[in-house]
Amino acid sequence: MLLPMPLPQVAHRTYELTHYDGQVRTVYCTEEEKRFPDGCLITSTTDLEGIITHANDVFVDMSGWTREELMGAPHYILRHPDMPSVAYKDLWDTIQAGQKWHGYVKNLRKDGGFYWVYATIIPNIRNGVIQGYTSVRRNPSRSKVREMRELYAQMRLAEGNQ
Ligand SMILES: Cc1cc2nc3c(=O)[nH]c(=O)nc-3n(C[C@H](O)[C@H](O)[C@H](O)COP(=O)(O)O)c2cc1C
Repeated sequence: MLLPMPLPQVAHRTYELTHYDGQVRTVYCTEEEKRFPDGCLITSTTDLEGIITHANDVFVDMSGWTREELMGAPHYILRHPDMPSVAYKDLWDTIQAGQKWHGYVKNLRKDGGFYWVYATIIPNIRNGVIQGYTSVRRNPSRSKVREMRELYAQMRLAEGNQ
């Protein structure tokens, strides 16, 4: 289940995102950053398709969605249009091969704001079979955020901003 984003009451950009499963969704982005809370971790688990099956309280708070809205929703509910598509491709190629993925991610909040994380995603493997995935996010350094913001902007341009 995927709920529509509410229209922000402040200045925002509007995008139409097409997701891997063909869903087309209108998203709104403001320049409001929510900073990663000190000493916390943001965690979630998904099934094999990236459908959210668990989220900790910090995840719920940072995303702006309620727990009820998040459970059963595709993880792309957090996709920010400033992220290059190739980053997500690298993520899925890595975890579907049974390996751990690390990366910097700019996430979109329900209110159109954003937050940066340094994410680790681990495949949950039992008897040699991937059962699902777990992600743990830490507070990224500000210098890395500045670096990745520039890099992702260049990558988005190279992708033709699709
Ligand atoms: C465990 C796990 C955690 C993920 N966490 C995020 C996340 O925090 N933000 C995000 O945009 N995508 C996250 N993804 C990737 C999404 O599933 C999706 O590939 C991405 O948002 C781009 O979706 P799209 O290409 O279908 O639009 C996660 C995937 C998995 C398996």
